[in-house]
Parts: sequence; structure tokens; C-alpha cells
Amino acid sequence: MNAIELLKDDHDKVDRLFQKVKATEEDEHKELFEKIKMELDAHTHIEEKIFYPRLKEEDELEDITLEGIEEHHQAKMFLRELASLSDDSEKFEPKLKVLMEDITHHVQEEEGEMFPKVEKIIGKAELEKLGKQMEEEKKNFQKSQKASAGK
Ligand SMILES: [Fe+2]
Ligand SMILES: [Fe+2]
Repeated sequence: MNAIELLKDDHDKVDRLFQKVKATEEDEHKELFEKIKMELDAHTHIEEKIFYPRLKEEDELEDITLEGIEEHHQAKMFLRELASLSDDSEKFEPKLKVLMEDITHHVQEEEGEMFPKVEKIIGKAELEKLGKQMEEEKKNFQKSQKASAGK
């Protein structure tokens, strides 16, 4: 799978979880949030470790990539805060809603602006290679997450 297809697949997966949050009662949201967090942790990790550094090498992609990094930073802050809230916190639902809005905006920017530029600048063969690297990195990341969660 090439890099763009892989990242779009991740985006779709996260969006399906967002739709589930919207369609379910609040008592199911904590569990859905755990899944959202796992997906986003892995996704932001592979983008930051493999995809964004390559994009930053291109003058035309530098600004949008730097903006992406800041949006990741904000999302991670929210994910951390959500994870540490007590079960009955009144902040959980509004914070989750804002997180979903922010991520949706970020994904729209990647898919609508960043990825089309990337496809013009970076060739098919290299996108394929980046996709393979990210797939590998994602597997390793999820393995190490599971290992540390089991401790
Ligand atoms: Fe991103
Ligand atoms: Fe993304």
C-alpha cells in the first residue's frame, strides 16, 4: 500500500469511530475513546517519524507540514487530558467533541491540501516505499504499546 492510501485508511478508520461516538449513548464513549486514542497514537507516530520528515525536505511542503506538527501537538495534549479525566468528569464529553472537531479539520487539510501536493512532488515508487516503512513502523509501535500496557 502506498503512503497516501495507508494514511487515508487510518483516517477512515478514525472517522468511523467518530461516527460511532455520535450515534451512541455517553456510557459507550469511554470505550470508544480508548480505541480512538490507540489509532491516533499510532497514526501520529508514523506520520511524525517517517512521512512528515520527508515532506519537510521540500520547500513547497514545509509550511503545511509544520502546521500539521502543531496540530498533532494539540491533539496529543487533548488525548492525554481525556485519558486522565476521572470517569464522572463533566469535561469528558465536551473535550471529546472538540478533539473530534480538531482531528476532522486536520484530516481535511491533509487529504484536501497536503496529500495532493505530495502526490505531485514525490514519485509513485517513493510513496510505495514510504508506505511500506510506515506499515512496518506501525506494527512495531503497536507491539510496544501493547507490551507496555501489559506491565
Ligand atoms: Fe496528521
Ligand atoms: Fe493523518
